[in-house]
Amino acid sequence: MPAVELQNLWKDFHSVPAVCGIHLSVQEGELLALLGPSGCGKTTTLRTVAGFEVPTAGEIRIRGKTVSGPGHFVPPEARNVGMVFQSYAVWPHMTVEANVAYPLKLRGVPPAERRERTRRVLELVQLPGLEFRFPHQLSGGQQQRVALARALNMEPAVLLLDEPLSNLDAQLRKEMRLEIKALQRRLGITILYVTHDQEEALTMADRIAVMGSGVIHQVAPPEEVFEEPADRFVAEFMGCTTFLPCEVAGVNRVRLLLGEEAPTVSCPLPSGVSGRGVLGIRAQEAHLIRDGSEALTGRVTLRTYRGGSFEVRVQVGKHVIPLITTTPLREGDTVQFALGPVRFFPDVSCAIPGEVPQATVM
Ligand SMILES: Nc1ncnc2c1ncn2[C@@H]1O[C@H](COP(=O)(O)OP(=O)(O)OP(=O)(O)O)[C@@H](O)[C@H]1O
Ligand SMILES: [Mg+2]
Repeated sequence: MPAVELQNLWKDFHSVPAVCGIHLSVQEGELLALLGPSGCGKTTTLRTVAGFEVPTAGEIRIRGKTVSGPGHFVPPEARNVGMVFQSYAVWPHMTVEANVAYPLKLRGVPPAERRERTRRVLELVQLPGLEFRFPHQLSGGQQQRVALARALNMEPAVLLLDEPLSNLDAQLRKEMRLEIKALQRRLGITILYVTHDQEEALTMADRIAVMGSGVIHQVAPPEEVFEEPADRFVAEFMGCTTFLPCEVAGVNRVRLLLGEEAPTVSCPLPSGVSGRGVLGIRAQEAHLIRDGSEALTGRVTLRTYRGGSFEVRVQVGKHVIPLITTTPLREGDTVQFALGPVRFFPDVSCAIPGEVPQATVM
């Protein structure tokens, strides 16, 4: 039985849809990252699971129990979910210990047990020794650990984390990612983790749900979302920066339409596909080659140093293709290169037998 199930979940604000009929399940013990750009509906989705928003339509189940559905609404305090927000939502007038022990106090856990459980959970988030400090005496990362410890102390069926690391500096963010991941593994907790940071989702998640404009485009393990993005929107979010026009030129072959240049390259294609589309390219996958039937030729128009390697822009016909290389090329050089793994996304009008063409992507 999934820990959380969303079935056809809709949420409108004053008739403007924020979440548009999503389906999603989070398995027990899984960390599922809900990844998408600002305003796509991530927080709204999380808040409906927590019970802070009433859905416009659809059903939410936690461990098989309906908590939100037609004519049925379980309030947040009766859902057994813990939530940690982007801003450190800790009570400023309470010590670390009092903050973390608070959910246990609410449940009437006796003081001795409360102290012991609080001590253990503070150890888990690596905050022992700070029990009697107040939040203003802590760093941002420490405050966020207090919020996390408090949520863990509830022993929730599911932990909802809404961009919990985005206020931390880059180094601390990286450390906390690993700590949360290790904690989740050790305790076997279920986490629904909202982020707009693809690297965070890739490093932490068991599965990623990519969301855009209130709909979910793909749910898959990180490798699959990265290697086989379901559509152009997911590809762009996963670092494909360049999309080259092309047309299908045979089985697993496409012809690039780059002005005077029309080289063909190999590319995995759904069987029977035809017509035009685009090829998604990542700069770090394109690479220089000496020769070869799939070599493209172009001229370097810009070179920037990125520490240990260069990013160069190569003009081919009317198009500019970025590639990353350790070779110290100069602007004006003519180079031969291969695109690396490419992904074909058909134009909306392009036919794939047996499939509805992808919806328009933003
Ligand atoms: N209380 C509200 N009233 C009206 N509109 C709202 C409300 N809350 C959210 N929205 C709108 O719903 C849409 C989704 O918002 P949401 O906060 O879920 O996005 P998000 O994906 O969490 O974005 P971010 O990454 O910026 O936090 C946005 O267009 C937002 O303006
Ligand atoms: Mg948000």
